[in-house]
Amino acid sequence: MLEETTTSFIKGIPKAELHVHIEGTFEPELMFAIARRNNVKLKYHTVDELKRAYNFSNLQDFLDLYYAGAKVLIYEQDFYDLTFAYLQKAYNDRVIHTEIFFDPQTHTTRGVDFGVVVAGIHRAMNDARKQFGISTSLIMCFLRHLDEKNAIRTLQQAIPYKNLIQGVGLDSSELGHPPAKFANVFGMARDAGFVTVAHAGEEGPAAYIREALDLLKVSRVDHGNNALDDESLLTELAQRRIPLTLCPLSNLKLKVVKDLRFHPLKKLMERGLLVTVNSDDPAYFGGYVTDNYLAIAESLNLSNAEICRLAQNSFEASFLEEKEKQSMIKQVQDYCSALT
Ligand code: ADE
Ligand code: ZN
Repeated sequence: MLEETTTSFIKGIPKAELHVHIEGTFEPELMFAIARRNNVKLKYHTVDELKRAYNFSNLQDFLDLYYAGAKVLIYEQDFYDLTFAYLQKAYNDRVIHTEIFFDPQTHTTRGVDFGVVVAGIHRAMNDARKQFGISTSLIMCFLRHLDEKNAIRTLQQAIPYKNLIQGVGLDSSELGHPPAKFANVFGMARDAGFVTVAHAGEEGPAAYIREALDLLKVSRVDHGNNALDDESLLTELAQRRIPLTLCPLSNLKLKVVKDLRFHPLKKLMERGLLVTVNSDDPAYFGGYVTDNYLAIAESLNLSNAEICRLAQNSFEASFLEEKEKQSMIKQVQDYCSALT
């Protein structure tokens, strides 16, 4: 058990969240409310029945449910409600900056307009900035189980909204869909001025992380757990300060790790990597970002200094402009020096 002082220390530390899928913040209660108002039938009849299905053997198991849930999102207001609910929770977790993933193809393939998705998310981001002072940005992910042509069409749809979207990423079923499959569209995205990230080394091998660096030229790796299998990759990630956005509770729920005591976070930190703690799909994995800090601090017996390092890393790893970045890092340092 964590001591009460450590728990409140973790709750209050200023954090950035860099790996959260907005569709993965869809709480069952809100899902049912939106399904009802949109007249969409869900496979499950009650919130409890749906929650009982949150018992996953692997990534694909989870993705099947995650895509089914997202089908109730149709109108701008739906995307607004989803995003605002997350930002409220993030604010309560002392998240002062968040870089939010969304999966446009999950919606456009059902006939929902790209602009509707972005408008709803963005209106919520603006309102949350005004109400809570929370800083936000948006990263659109390509679904790697679809082909590259589909990703290219999606990139073209994003161009008119370029000022609202900071980066592109790559998510969905990893095994069998290596980063190499998306080398062209990532080149086009970089040419258009987007920053790039990719999920790699969650279920896939270290070689996928290598491809994400060399072929997609990502500036951040999402998950990256399996980097530990490749010594030269570890050295390069550390030397180039390429951040890993780790997601402990996700890894536990998707059986990427058997037990959080075996989670690679501490080893990766000790190897000098810029690691961060994030929630991934908090509505499905039983915890938002603070819960992830609490769980990993307890399982790996992290010191307050290590917790401060993780919070500081979250800002260093962000895509914030240097001035904002430094001012938020100073907030972490002031908090830590006052309390440690
Ligand atoms: N989409 C949402 N969560 C994901 C994850 N953990 N891995 C890959 N794709 C995802
Ligand atoms: Zn993810």
